[in-house]
Amino acid sequence: MTTEHLHPHHESHDYVAANQQFFDGRAETMDEFPGAKEMAKRVVRAMVSKYPPLFNEDTTTAMDYACGNGLISRELCPHVKSIVGVDISQGVVDQYNLRASNQGLEPTEMKAIRAELKGEDTELDGTKFDIIVCSAAYHHFPSVDDTTRILTSFLKPGGSLLVADLMKKDDGREIFAKDHHHVVAHTAGFGEEDMRQIFTKAGLVNFDFSHITAVKLHGNDMDVFLARGVKPVQ
Ligand SMILES: C[S@@+](CC[C@H](N)C(=O)[O-])C[C@H]1O[C@@H](n2cnc3c(N)ncnc32)[C@H](O)[C@@H]1O
Repeated sequence: MTTEHLHPHHESHDYVAANQQFFDGRAETMDEFPGAKEMAKRVVRAMVSKYPPLFNEDTTTAMDYACGNGLISRELCPHVKSIVGVDISQGVVDQYNLRASNQGLEPTEMKAIRAELKGEDTELDGTKFDIIVCSAAYHHFPSVDDTTRILTSFLKPGGSLLVADLMKKDDGREIFAKDHHHVVAHTAGFGEEDMRQIFTKAGLVNFDFSHITAVKLHGNDMDVFLARGVKPVQ
């Protein structure tokens, strides 16, 4: 089985530009999207309870990719030493940083930057992370293979990539509302085998996958998965 079917819904559409514009316009209110807060809480609870050794509040350095205005980072903050949020939308990055400073957090503890990572050594000042988390965002990425390979390059050897997103239905039907299709490259979500192949292609090992919760989003009952892969120590 290949992941050819994981090519975006419309090959020629510029999903990155569409997402940037879409989330710039929703930066202040995106965490009010019905189901978003509850999903973030449950995702972080699952990450911390399934993989306790990954979370040390004195030492763990984390990246939150496609961080939005910081729902996941704020839940994760008490469990790690520092978090860098990365997103393509300047609007959400500004909201993330405003909320972090309103909570009295120093930028060394929690800050976001606007970037579309390419995997180059000079990006993020060459920083490598113990964990990279990415929630509710894989369905937006035009190439999930490229993004996973790039995120893996930002992990320390032995570091973990943790991806949470919406699970494919048995019949593979579209699960996102039609009015979001211009920003959703993978309208059916992902299954366990999809994620295994994406992670394996990126060189990640010790693949683990679990269904963590059900949420109501886009008017549908959706299942949320958590996938984990580890960057080998060479
Ligand atoms: C549904 S929001 C999820 C935000 C956050 N992870 C959360 O769980 O609350 C999706 C986010 O993905 C970002 N995004 C979309 N396409 C992206 C891309 N190609 N690279 C980086 N971020 C992207 C959007 O700007 C938006 O902030």
